[in-house]
Amino acid sequence: MIKRTTDPEEIDFKDKFSLTGKVIVITGGMGLIGKAFTEACLQFGSSVMIADIDKAEPEKNADKLNERFKGRAAGISIDVGKRNDVIRLKDETLKKFGRIDGLVNCHQNKTAKFFAKFEEYTDENWDAVIETNLKGTYLTCQIIGSYMAEKGSGSIINMPSTYSVVAPNQNLYHGTSLGCPAAYSASKGGVMALSQYLATYWADKGVRVNQITPHGVWNNHEDKFEENFSRFSPLKRMSYNHEVAGAAVFLLSDASSYVTGDNIRVDGGWTAW
Ligand SMILES: NC(=O)c1ccc[n+]([C@@H]2O[C@H](COP(=O)([O-])OP(=O)(O)OC[C@H]3O[C@@H](n4cnc5c(N)ncnc54)[C@H](O)[C@@H]3O)[C@@H](O)[C@H]2O)c1
Repeated sequence: MIKRTTDPEEIDFKDKFSLTGKVIVITGGMGLIGKAFTEACLQFGSSVMIADIDKAEPEKNADKLNERFKGRAAGISIDVGKRNDVIRLKDETLKKFGRIDGLVNCHQNKTAKFFAKFEEYTDENWDAVIETNLKGTYLTCQIIGSYMAEKGSGSIINMPSTYSVVAPNQNLYHGTSLGCPAAYSASKGGVMALSQYLATYWADKGVRVNQITPHGVWNNHEDKFEENFSRFSPLKRMSYNHEVAGAAVFLLSDASSYVTGDNIRVDGGWTAW
């Protein structure tokens, strides 16, 4: 319940950022950014269901986290592109924690031929990227978001990309083995459109839908890429996964109670010029 007051002294602003008592589902929770989100949510007091593919062993990581967070972490192996898996994710989270307050779609698929040239991209490769990135986000939003809409509250965070906001600067990849596939941009453009759609679709049901767009999150990148990146970035450097997590805490907490349909760009100013 939002307090109807103009007196800020009546407000506990620190408490607004608390996630205590909330239950957050994080897909791709074993990834570079997903791990930072998980840690941040647990530190801010929530329980977290870490959902990732079997190979990533989310259950094992939850066991490790529980040494510090005393049963507030759980893990589940699923494929977000499969309807029955996402239904199982919802059911198991409700069985374990009794409620779901937040959903963070932090998964992405990097196929074996992810960086193939556009002219040579195979349908198989294209479909795999779209199936995980876009269909996976659609399924989790539909299945878990519908539950939130029915209960009358919830916060969803989807993750598009800088390359659904602007086109890639191809100079960034000169002299490196990296690139940005069109399938990735296209899938993330779909994630953006879906997120904006759902923000107004579910606004009157108390479900807020926002996005976080990270950019250039450092993960032992090759030196030449980091050098190129620094040249094109207003902040002159890559980012770190922990620098993205503050935006997730904000959007999952009551501090963002009047924010929906937004896209927080944690991109060091990349899309500002
Ligand atoms: N890292 C960046 O610089 C950056 C920039 C812009 C956007 N993003 C987006 O942020 C999100 C997180 O990025 P990241 O760098 O942590 O990615 P990552 O590749 O490190 O992690 C992605 C996670 O998704 C999991 N995953 C893959 N397929 C899955 C499936 N079918 N079902 C469930 N889980 C699956 C992987 O196992 C992995 O743990 C992604 O959506 C990505 O597109 C990242």
